[in-house]
Amino acid sequence: MRSLDDLVVVVTGASQGIGAAIARHFASHNSRVVLTGRNKIRLSEIAGQFNLPKNRYLIIAADLTRADTMKKIVASAIKIFGRIDIFVNNAGVGIHKAVEDTTVAEYNTILDTNLKAIFLSFKELIPLYRRQGGGQIINISSGAARIGSPGLAVYAASKAAVNVLSESAAGEVRNQSIKISVLSPASTDTRLMSQMSKESHSPSKASLKLTVDEVAEAVIYMARQNSNAWTSMADIRPLLINK
Ligand SMILES: NC(=O)c1ccc[n+]([C@@H]2O[C@H](COP(=O)([O-])OP(=O)(O)OC[C@H]3O[C@@H](n4cnc5c(N)ncnc54)[C@H](OP(=O)(O)O)[C@@H]3O)[C@@H](O)[C@H]2O)c1
Repeated sequence: MRSLDDLVVVVTGASQGIGAAIARHFASHNSRVVLTGRNKIRLSEIAGQFNLPKNRYLIIAADLTRADTMKKIVASAIKIFGRIDIFVNNAGVGIHKAVEDTTVAEYNTILDTNLKAIFLSFKELIPLYRRQGGGQIINISSGAARIGSPGLAVYAASKAAVNVLSESAAGEVRNQSIKISVLSPASTDTRLMSQMSKESHSPSKASLKLTVDEVAEAVIYMARQNSNAWTSMADIRPLLINK
């Protein structure tokens, strides 16, 4: 498998949860890591835990629902590190609410964060990767994308759209050494999961949840595949055993 040593990796939503774990795993492989999210203090705390020299990481605090944020993230990473090798679109939001109770503002926030940001990343990264001679985009989708569930309509729709957007774009660039991959985790123990379980009034059993490290390890596997091999779509699920 390829080494991740010195590669430049951008992780969105790196201030906590799955994204923080993904950033930590890349840092442990000696990648240079760009951590993004809205909360600058939490981003600094997470980066501080990696014990990396200051020239090995970058923090960009920005809101992905703003139109210019993706351009800013890519431009800042290039300014500091000169290239991007892997971009992990992990940031995401969701609510557990019936469609009729969901406001247009909530719909827009979920779609802008979960889907439009990924579309905007493609527009920035595909031309960049073409100039660089290659690169990888890994999008964190969800098992919820596969089948509609009461209370999850808007979240699930955003993730289903991520799957087809990514699969379609991947086919457009796979002959240019550009890999676009999708990883769909099942329930994972994070703030988002506990918030959505609370809203649904049916907390999922701890034994049926993945850990953030298990999801991050799957991302690392996808990133380490050799140049000719590419995982386009993958699901990660827990075994049905008591932990
Ligand atoms: N947990 C699960 O069960 C599960 C299952 C399947 C898929 N997923 C997916 O995994 C990804 C990570 O979720 P998680 O469970 O780790 O959630 P989380 O703990 O709530 O973390 C979400 C991250 O997204 C960032 N974020 C949210 N809105 C943003 C915005 N407008 N601009 C920039 N960053 C924003 C947050 O950073 P700030 O607060 O600093 O902005 C945070 O770092 C999401 O795409 C989620 O849909 C999660």
